Amino acid sequence: VWTNYSIIEEAVKEVRAQVGERKVICALSGGVDSSVAAALVHEAVGDQLTCVFVDTGLMRQGEVEAVERTFRDQFSIKLITVDASDRFFSVLRGVEDPEAKRKAIGETFIRVFEDLKPEIEDASVLVQGTLYPDVIESGTKTAAKIKSHHNVGGLPDVMSFDLVEPLRWLFKDEVRSVGSELGLPDEILWRQPFPGPGLAVRILGEVTPERAETLRKADLIVAEEIYKAGLTKTLWQSFAVLVAKVKTVGVMGDERTYDSPVILRAVTSEDAMTADWARLPYEVLESISRRIVAEVRGVNRVAYDITSKPPGTIEWE
Ligand code: XMP
Repeated sequence: VWTNYSIIEEAVKEVRAQVGERKVICALSGGVDSSVAAALVHEAVGDQLTCVFVDTGLMRQGEVEAVERTFRDQFSIKLITVDASDRFFSVLRGVEDPEAKRKAIGETFIRVFEDLKPEIEDASVLVQGTLYPDVIESGTKTAAKIKSHHNVGGLPDVMSFDLVEPLRWLFKDEVRSVGSELGLPDEILWRQPFPGPGLAVRILGEVTPERAETLRKADLIVAEEIYKAGLTKTLWQSFAVLVAKVKTVGVMGDERTYDSPVILRAVTSEDAMTADWARLPYEVLESISRRIVAEVRGVNRVAYDITSKPPGTIEWE
């Protein structure tokens, strides 16, 4: 029987054998896989591990702090956080096309890592949070690409690393229980998937710091209300999209408003290849809508996306 304990013991042994005395680097995304991979590698090689977290300015509310709290404070892992938000916003200036946003963000990630070179120069091993389904799938992936998926961890070719993939034998549920055994908090273990380009592909139109802040507020309300209703774990993803390039007329008190709408997106799914729009209770829809319009300046309307995938995609860009 594979208990968590024996899974961890085996993985630790394997990582130690593979890494030896070398220095290891792990790019954290804030997500489940890279977090558990980092915790596991830390268990195996301790201070030989340095984690890097790039704050793009496109993360959700509280995400940067959660990573620092967990990895630096709780696990005492060496953590380099880079606030690169100015850089990301500047390459996104004037960019409206979704794929152009992904490209700009992907390239900027690489630049940011290149600049870190002096700090991570003596590392020769890179941690990747590859799971078993990715391993078996990678031989059979179809060429058809709807969206180019940029993931954190795409590093410059000029830096060559040996890869260590401590989760390559595990399924998602095993990753969560291993993470839990290692002491990672639920807020990280039960995080819904979040795209590498972050809020940039949830702002329709140009991405600016102000728009990101507006979306962050709306998105936090969605997360809070979904959590309060006990629905977080039942949904694959639930989030807000800011249709920044559109304005609609509304009324607030006696005043006419002319602001942007927010789209609420919530889906159930097994693997993101197909997804069904979630039949959220009306009361939850009501409280999300009421709170967003009342609390988020610049937003005067909330619409619910009732499109499944296909023909829709989960994200709006
Ligand atoms: P779509 O929108 O294609 O999304 O139905 C399927 C899943 O992938 C996530 N997604 C991304 N993840 N980089 C990522 O790392 C991306 O560019 C990206 N685009 C979409 C999306 O959140 C969903 O879980």
